[in-house]
Order: sequence, then C-alpha cells, then structure tokens
Amino acid sequence: MRTTDTKLVKITNQTKSLDELKQAGEIIKNGGLVVIPTETVYGLAADALNPSAVAGIFSAKGRPADNPLIVHIASISDIDMLCFDIPDIAYKLADKFWPGPLTMILKKRDIVPDVTSGGLNSVAVRMPSHEVALEIIRQSGTALAAPSANLSGSPSPTKAGHTIADMNGRVDMIVDAGDCEVGIESTVISLLSETPVILRPGAVTADMISECIGKVKIDRAVMAKPGRGDKVLSPGVKYKHYSPRADVIILNGSTEQFVSYVNSKIQSGVYALCFDECKGDIKIPVISYGSISNDREQAHKLFSALRKLDEKGALTVYAQPPSQDGIGLAVYNRLIRSAGFKIIEL
Ligand code: TXA
Ligand code: MG
Repeated sequence: MRTTDTKLVKITNQTKSLDELKQAGEIIKNGGLVVIPTETVYGLAADALNPSAVAGIFSAKGRPADNPLIVHIASISDIDMLCFDIPDIAYKLADKFWPGPLTMILKKRDIVPDVTSGGLNSVAVRMPSHEVALEIIRQSGTALAAPSANLSGSPSPTKAGHTIADMNGRVDMIVDAGDCEVGIESTVISLLSETPVILRPGAVTADMISECIGKVKIDRAVMAKPGRGDKVLSPGVKYKHYSPRADVIILNGSTEQFVSYVNSKIQSGVYALCFDECKGDIKIPVISYGSISNDREQAHKLFSALRKLDEKGALTVYAQPPSQDGIGLAVYNRLIRSAGFKIIEL
C-alpha cells in the first residue's frame, strides 16, 4: 500500500463546489483514488476500466482479490457499454429503481477488466442517486469501481469521519458530503439465472422487486453462515464483514428477556446495542440504533453505532436484533455478519 497526502474537501452546496468535483473527476481520470459519498454508504472510487487504478482500491482496503467490485454509472444507457445479453427485466428494474440503492449482476463485456470483476465473467452495476456521486462520475468521464470505503472487514462508513479514520493517507481525496441517507449498502440482485436472486438485501426490498418483475429468490447465504466448501454466488459472503473490534453477540428473544439478560452482565467492557424503547431500562453502558418499529432508522444508524462501540472501548456487545421484514432483513443481514453469526436464543 502506498501512503499519500489525502486532500479533504467538504461539499455543502454542489453548484458552488463544482471546481472540487471537477478535481475529483480529474484524479480518477488519472488513475487515482477518491472517497465519494453515495446515498447508501461512502465508496472508495477509481476508474473501473483502468486495471492499475482498480488494483489500488484492493490494496488501500486490504480486500481479497477475488471479491469483485460494483461499477457505478451516471446514466442507464451505460449498462450497454459494460454488459451484454441484458434481459428486459434489467431495464425494468433500472427504470423503476435507478438512480438508487440497487445493484444488478449482469454478463460482463471485455471492456471491464478482470481485476474489477474479481475474475468473474459477470459484473455488478449500479447508478447511485447521490447528486455528488453522479457529478463525480460525469466529471471523470468513465465508470467508477467503488466498494464501501472502509478497511476490509470493518463496518461500512456512513459518515465522512469514518472514511477519514480508515482511509486517510491511503487515497488521493476524500469528498465529505455529510451523512449517508440509507446507511447500509445497496441491494445486490443477480440477473444471470432464470429466476433473479437477491445476493444481498438492502433498501430496495424483495417485495418491491417482485412487484416490478415477478418472482425473485433470496439467496440462502443472506441469513446463513456459508458452510466450508459451499458454492457461493457472491464472493463477498465468504469474508468477515462489518465487524467492530468488540465481540458482538445477538440475543434472540423478547425485549423483556433482552433487558434482563444484559442487566445480569454488569462487567467492564460489556455493552448493549439495542433499540431506543428499552435503552432506559438497561443498566450497562448502551448505544441504541433507532426505534424498534423503524427499519429505515435502524439501517441509517447501525454501522455508526458499531463504530461508536469501538470508540468507547467495548469488548463484548450484546445486540438486540431487528425484525426480518422489509428493510429489517437487510439490517439483520449486516448485524449477523458483524456478530460472526454468534446468536444466543433466550
Ligand atoms: O451501496 C453499495 O453497494 C456500496 C456503495 C459504495 O455503492 N458499495 C458496496 O460495495 O457495498 P462492496 O464492494 O462493499 O460490496 C459489493 C458486493 C460484494 O459482496 C461483492 O462480492 C458483490 O457485491 N459482487 C460484486 N460483483 C459481483 C459479481 N459479479 N457477482 C456476485 N457478487 C458480486
Ligand atoms: Mg463492503
């Protein structure tokens, strides 16, 4: 990994900041790395079509080379440049959900280098809705490979401060545009098989997708720990993810059971991660991540809460899990990974 001076720019008003966004585009054109805001999480962007620039992403993150990247575009028609044999449902999904937090896996054209697709013959494509992201893509004149801008294995960054903690000195520029609205990464759907498969749940839910294109499956790896030797559809699921330094353990049960379990664990370094409603009843140090009935708020706050627990020096964290409905499924998917699938049934 090279070390470099990282330029920090803050965008409060996009039109006034056009010069900075042009500069970000220039850096990417020249093979550099720029942390960009998106509506989901911050991304670590480079020219997706430049193999050595993309290699820089892997080394800055410490990411395994077989874990492919998402390619970000600023116009729907760019999928034709990157992919072939595109099914009609891809255009239907793009019309309905782009720009926005949905990533589609399609057959890859040769223009997309192997390093970007982790050696696969498919490529993940998404058009983000964040205006700053779109402007940087346009200014760069190319498509941007951008994984979440965290060190591999850490919780995804939803605030510029998170990316500064992980990426300062590893990238050419960090573009700070405030907090990411959604807070968890895009829904990833594979359109390679007859029935589309959701590989990673997100803010675009299975119900929303099936309303648009009919039957859709949810990959079993979304909720289960892949067994050794299992064939995985999305390489990302093999790796440790979203983990704070603390040991996270999910407690499955009622709110009353949760409160009484954690209150019996008063010990230095032990924290609770729970919903706002029961925060007041908990006698150990606690961080909440939204209301029990608001899955959007939970998604918005989860990664930030996991990082806060590290900042406070938590060693063990007992977590109250969300419902698995709607966006709750995506929140649960991130939480069980951050817990390394450790669950206690109360
Ligand atoms: O919201 C997001 O998607 C954010 C922002 C920055 O756009 N990006 C993001 O990228 O979450 P990343 O690299 O952290 O996650 C990409 C996921 C990984 O799990 C990867 O394995 C999967 O998408 N993926 C990428 N290309 C794939 C492919 N061709 N086939 C199967 N899975 C793929
Ligand atoms: Mg990631």
